[in-house]
Amino acid sequence: MTSEVWDEETAARYDADTADMSTSEALRPTINFLEELAGSGRALEFAIGTGRVGVALAGRGVQVCGIELSEPMVRELRRKVEESALPVAVGNMTTARVPGEFSLVYLVFNGLSNLQTQAEQVACFQNASRHLVLGGRFVIELWVPPLRRMPPGQTAVPNEVSEGHLGFDTYDPVHQMCTSHHYVKDADGTVRYDFGNFRYAWPAECDLMAQLAGMQLEGRFSEWDRGVFTAESDSHVSVYRKG
Ligand SMILES: C[S@@+](CC[C@H](N)C(=O)[O-])C[C@H]1O[C@@H](n2cnc3c(N)ncnc32)[C@H](O)[C@@H]1O
Repeated sequence: MTSEVWDEETAARYDADTADMSTSEALRPTINFLEELAGSGRALEFAIGTGRVGVALAGRGVQVCGIELSEPMVRELRRKVEESALPVAVGNMTTARVPGEFSLVYLVFNGLSNLQTQAEQVACFQNASRHLVLGGRFVIELWVPPLRRMPPGQTAVPNEVSEGHLGFDTYDPVHQMCTSHHYVKDADGTVRYDFGNFRYAWPAECDLMAQLAGMQLEGRFSEWDRGVFTAESDSHVSVYRKG
């Protein structure tokens, strides 16, 4: 298992760090999309974190469950919603099993990349499929690695350049690995450094992983608002159907 476990400090900061993408306005297209696919069935979020998406989806009346590796992240989620309203299994999304069947399993915010080997990513698709009813959907939101932005000999690409945040990604194309480096200026002026390691996967590789798990690509969009996915898209929302 190669996932990095999110610690207490990261968990405590998570909601503030993602505030921009957690407003009801920012989340609306995501929640609309997921609510429609869940229908009258249950939804399971892999790597639910502090519940940024899951809590909002449950707020629409969908029965949501979660799987999450980090206990500190689950403790943050518990400040918002009780176990009886949104049960979470602490475990690895490649293997953990939540009782019952689901019409929707979803993994947002580049979650697949937290799994740092191909074998684990395949296991994640298989575990999603294991939880789905026949005809149920697995939805992933995943970045497309911007390798076209790297001329020969260059291995780093900026991900953000602003007054409070300098970030760049370094790539190891041989192993499909990326390290994201972040230098963030805190309110008191001190600069903190953070990094994360991710395995990138092309959309076509995701489709193959889905096939190995008994699912087929049903639709691919550039965004949650169902924009057209093109060669210029830097991210995709893909829907896989079981059976
Ligand atoms: C970027 S956060 C996303 C949280 C939430 N889904 C959201 O959109 O805000 C990534 C989460 O993945 C969790 N995670 C990483 N590897 C995992 C694994 N193998 N199984 C389950 N959760 C994992 C981390 O602990 C963290 O909470």
